[in-house]
Amino acid sequence: GAPGPTTLANARFRSVAPNRRDAVVLPDQFDHDVIIRWGDPVLPGAPDFDVRNLTVAAVKKQFGYNNDYVGVVPIGKDRAVMVVNHEYDDIGLMYPQGHYSQRDLARLGMYTHGISVVTIKRGKVPGSWRRVKDLTKAPKNRRITVETRFKMTGPAAGSDWLKTSDDPTGSVVKGTLNNCAGGTTPWGTVLSGEENFNQYFNTEGTVPTGPTFGGAKDSYARYGIRSNSSDPRNWHDVDDRFDLEKEPNEPHRFGWIVEVDPLRPKSQPRKHTMLGRFKHEGANVVIADNGRAVVYSGDDERGDYIYKFVSEERYDPRKTARARNHNKRLLEAGTLYVAKFTGDGLEDGVSDGTGKWIKLCSDRESFVPGMTVEEVLTFTRLAADKVGPTQMDRPEDVEVNLVNGKVYAALTNNSQRGSTFPADEANPVTSCGTRTSPGAPLEMKSGNRNGYVLEMTPDDGDHTRSTFTWDLFLICGDPESPETYFAGFDKSKVSRISCPDNLAWDSSGNLWISTDGAAAGLGHNDGLFRVPTSGPERGRVQQFLTVPKGAECCGPLVTDDDRSLFFAPQHPGEIDGATFAEPASTWPHTDDFPRPSVCVAFRKA
Ligand code: FEO
Ligand code: CA
Ligand code: CA
Ligand code: CA
Repeated sequence: GAPGPTTLANARFRSVAPNRRDAVVLPDQFDHDVIIRWGDPVLPGAPDFDVRNLTVAAVKKQFGYNNDYVGVVPIGKDRAVMVVNHEYDDIGLMYPQGHYSQRDLARLGMYTHGISVVTIKRGKVPGSWRRVKDLTKAPKNRRITVETRFKMTGPAAGSDWLKTSDDPTGSVVKGTLNNCAGGTTPWGTVLSGEENFNQYFNTEGTVPTGPTFGGAKDSYARYGIRSNSSDPRNWHDVDDRFDLEKEPNEPHRFGWIVEVDPLRPKSQPRKHTMLGRFKHEGANVVIADNGRAVVYSGDDERGDYIYKFVSEERYDPRKTARARNHNKRLLEAGTLYVAKFTGDGLEDGVSDGTGKWIKLCSDRESFVPGMTVEEVLTFTRLAADKVGPTQMDRPEDVEVNLVNGKVYAALTNNSQRGSTFPADEANPVTSCGTRTSPGAPLEMKSGNRNGYVLEMTPDDGDHTRSTFTWDLFLICGDPESPETYFAGFDKSKVSRISCPDNLAWDSSGNLWISTDGAAAGLGHNDGLFRVPTSGPERGRVQQFLTVPKGAECCGPLVTDDDRSLFFAPQHPGEIDGATFAEPASTWPHTDDFPRPSVCVAFRKA
């Protein structure tokens, strides 16, 4: 037959060169549009964005700050709803210094977090999308904020550890915080990970001790809940639930995977306790051959773990309301596991070996001595510590390649590998090449500063099995540096890459990797890379785009028959010493300060 059109999956392009520009840079044959910026209207009645005249009432109707995960669910041939996380705020970059009171900043900050649901429609150029600006025609638009009530599901819902004075039932939680990455489910809902939730809690007095179990670490310490004297937010000054002395259980109500149904704007979002509580980067669902829903999730902390959940019930593929309602309950019961990686020795020249998923609990039974099911799920890190999983270098996105059935995990970096954390075959790099600017010489530094992409192959291709094999698909960094590895591909033909964070797939099974931290590791802006996972070009990493100065690249999402690439430059201008008055970036160049925004890239017409 005739060759198909050029798409994101098959395009041959010249790799974008490392740079420090304050711009989105793409290959020549591609273009991009900004779909929505921080402060743009999401709900009817939202006032025009005015950074000097912000109120809580305005922010509740406007697009939040620091867009991270982007999910897109079609609602017709030419329309879709886009679900976007707002991970965190940055007072120094967002607002004119001294313009707002400390208490106003706390309140504005709370509401700029959360999740937005935004209706989009096709643009003129195939693959392009724009937001629906007439909000009377966007009834699915939604802002989920710090006051939206979430229903707790699963075995730990209603547990004593979740009870507070506002919610003596321990089953309804106000708000979601630090939503980082996520996943769109086969039933058209969106999962979102509550990541660094610990930072919002504080107290004027002494931080109490957290619960502990049979010799385990103090749970507050294990989750990084402590006195944050350097954090400028001080939410505990305006809302008692962020005060650790007044509401010691409130932090237990964050650190979960939340599920939002963007097709039903009035539906109550949920937090699924069955998926465990840790610094969830995100969560991704795959339906195993036997119909069970399998969810992979990383705990983004130095030395923390990779987790898997297998549902008790089976997925119903029918396109009926009844089937969808059944599927929406799949994440409420099943079994939670944590990963252990064993190497087969480095004599073969590659980091690879076998792996095992260790059971933590099912919805009925705990497999961790001294901890109940509720405790395993609420203090998952403490439970996992007891069963000997492998300490990884900050697990970020964990995503299944539907073309080859393998699971890929981004392990972003760990400067303490080789010191605090001893090396092992799955975490082999203790010294790596770095640069201070794109053209500066390579210097070796201690630790793993550029990260890995790990490939896991479930035994018999069965995601419900407890055994797998694994290999490091990429050891990231500068290809001129000896420790790097690009699945065996010719290192003279690949792009340098540092700090993989978010993963996505096109329909040919190419992996798309976005980065967060390239400036620190290799001296250039972050961006997005395409790499084949099979065939003669397996491992050929090519830089597809760079994001503006100081930004990390979030999203990404390749969709619409590989014609649309959604990506979300987060925290443009976040560079040491930069402020609102003296910004390091003014992207997207509509104001004299930066505004995090969601974009779509597509082939030029
Ligand atoms: Fe929010 Fe792990 O990145
Ligand atoms: Ca080996
Ligand atoms: Ca991330
Ligand atoms: Ca990140």
